Amino acid sequence: MSVVDDIKAQLDIVAYIQQYTPLKKAGRNYKAPCPFHGERTPSFYVNPDNQSWRCFGACSEGGDIFSFAMKRHGWTFTEALEELGKQAGIEVKPRSPVQAAQDEKLDKLRGLLQTAAESYHACLIEGTAEGSADVLNYAREKRGLTDETIIAFGVGYAPPGWSNMRDHLAALGYSDDDIIEAGMATRSDNGRVYDRFRNRLIIPIRDGRGRVIAFGARALAPDDEPKYLNSPQTPIFDKSSTLFALDVARKAIRDTASVVIVEGYMDAIQAHQAGYTNVVAQMGTAMTEQQLKLIAPLLANSERGSGRIIMALDADAAGQNATRRSLEVARQSLEADFAGRLSADIRILQIPGAKDPDDFLRESPEGWQALVDNAQPVADYVIDAEMAALPANPSVHEREALARRLLPMLVASENDLYRKDNIQRLALRLHIAERDLLSWAEEQRRINTAKAPRPYNRPPERPNSGAQRPTWSSPPVMDEPPEFAPTNYDDLIPPLDYDEDGGNSFYDLPVRGAVRNGRWGTQKSTPEEYCLRVLFEQPKLMYAINRQFRELAADYPALMSGPLCDVDVSDFSRSDYCALLQAFQDAIEQDEYEPLDFLRANLDSTLLAILDEIMVDDLQDVRSRLRYRMNGEVADYWKTHHKSAIAVVDRSAEFVDRMLDLRLKRIRRELQEITFLAQEAQASGDSEAAKRYLILAEQSIHAKTLVEREQKRRREGSRP
Ligand code: UTP
Ligand code: MN
Repeated sequence: MSVVDDIKAQLDIVAYIQQYTPLKKAGRNYKAPCPFHGERTPSFYVNPDNQSWRCFGACSEGGDIFSFAMKRHGWTFTEALEELGKQAGIEVKPRSPVQAAQDEKLDKLRGLLQTAAESYHACLIEGTAEGSADVLNYAREKRGLTDETIIAFGVGYAPPGWSNMRDHLAALGYSDDDIIEAGMATRSDNGRVYDRFRNRLIIPIRDGRGRVIAFGARALAPDDEPKYLNSPQTPIFDKSSTLFALDVARKAIRDTASVVIVEGYMDAIQAHQAGYTNVVAQMGTAMTEQQLKLIAPLLANSERGSGRIIMALDADAAGQNATRRSLEVARQSLEADFAGRLSADIRILQIPGAKDPDDFLRESPEGWQALVDNAQPVADYVIDAEMAALPANPSVHEREALARRLLPMLVASENDLYRKDNIQRLALRLHIAERDLLSWAEEQRRINTAKAPRPYNRPPERPNSGAQRPTWSSPPVMDEPPEFAPTNYDDLIPPLDYDEDGGNSFYDLPVRGAVRNGRWGTQKSTPEEYCLRVLFEQPKLMYAINRQFRELAADYPALMSGPLCDVDVSDFSRSDYCALLQAFQDAIEQDEYEPLDFLRANLDSTLLAILDEIMVDDLQDVRSRLRYRMNGEVADYWKTHHKSAIAVVDRSAEFVDRMLDLRLKRIRRELQEITFLAQEAQASGDSEAAKRYLILAEQSIHAKTLVEREQKRRREGSRP
């Protein structure tokens, strides 16, 4: 609840207004002569149920206790807030100037976008702008939109021309800077400012509360690229945390405890038109954690038990890739959320005849419900998809790799019953013993839960090493993540944009002498995997990267204990990698063994298996001997062979680059978290806390700039 709500809950509007005009009971309401103008027959009513007042007479105004107080005393809203707060015994602290300025700016941008939306809409339905009759015809005939739908979604038209919108907004007092910041215009290199959206059908994008925050604009001319031009990222629009149509789908999602996620604006609009109102669109990005977070509470709060997320995706290859990426995010989020499992049952809806939902809905709207009801459990879908990608006679390695890839998802996203079923299914399809699958799944579960035996047996604390210990007190695989530390999602955030290849977020890593999947050659590894591996091979790089962060923070020491601190587990998002890093940090603190040897000797089998995956080397037998205990003899053997097998290549530059990437991601994650907390604190009136978060946010932003600048410097420096 906000302060405003708190105050309203404390002060009764009837009692308050009674002080100024004598109220008489009239049915459920109270009435009196209007205190704002002279009248003999009372036309002023107060409704105690919804705590409102209204004058049906000359002033014909109304509102709540605040507007009454403002009008009666001539107060500004802030003054009313302070005065009524006093009366209610609720302290109203002034907003910090930073926050106030920021709020004002956001309000201004929202106002601008609302104005723009109204103007586009008028252009379309009033038929006065150049070409608008044709476009209205297109919307009705070609897109099959009814007039009610056009009005409900506020669909509009941006006529051709370079400055219609700019002129319109300028006439209303908005500056070029405002217009550009809101994403409505662009400034060219030579300083010319021109409209972003020209000759396009306009679809307003709203936030969950129904406020216009951006536009999606569809090309009308067939050769106009791109097909959809969207607003850029602005202070009020972040594509990755927006779901199109959520404002109008919210209620149905809650009521049905299910949400259908489609890809495109038109798919969602068409579904709503056909009466399926629990449909939202992802707008061509892969599903993100933030998007999931928007719908999770709606599903969780339902009284119908666990919610269902149905992904209706295009049947084409791009659509399938998007599905896979979305599932991956869902899986990671589910995995991340081990404390309170997001209890959602994820299903995949495939549309017959390779159509998109839009086409299907227009042809057979009545068939949609059956598609939704029969959506395939995600397990079936991924098993099918992965199997289809295997070569004809897959090797044992290939089959095992596939199983290990799928298990986390099959185990995390389903309940016990499904889990057994899934494992059985997988066993049959892959010709792998169910027993093996179960034990791999169990390993996975142990990594994911805190209740399991500690995955890493930390060596006893040595007396003088306490001071250098990192500040967390237990391995990161624990019940509650450390404050602000991200849980283990985010490899896919920021989201991959439309048309971008998912492969972009991976780095090609040549594997020396490695045999994986029965092949020699190049191997894809994630940035996190890459960093750990290089770090384990060359522990000295830990000092190099920490020095780098300290240098960046040299002029701003506060950042050194904040967003530019030494490398720690929060730089990694996977919990098993966090545990490995933790163990590694202990390994470099001791000086009896080579860190990697020490690491191997002290890890339990689960983490050792993960380490093996990361390191991929060919000393299989040595490793298995070392698996249980490090004894002097084997250690020597290991040392010699390990050294000869791994020719140490200088990867420091690449490593620092990748670590900077990881740190940047971490800062972004934390920033999002902090911003959210600041907003919450603000909304609940705790401006003390809000101020603290704002300071943290400023630090993060600063650190982000420093890291980005450094990345730029490195990129430019490495150019020939
Ligand atoms: P589609 O190309 O599948 O859109 O992209 P669609 O809705 O079927 O397009 P129509 O039916 O030809 O009008 C799906 C979504 O991806 C985003 C949009 O959000 C679109 O609704 N997209 C697509 C873009 O942002 N830019 C593009 O160029 C294309
Ligand atoms: Mn379409």
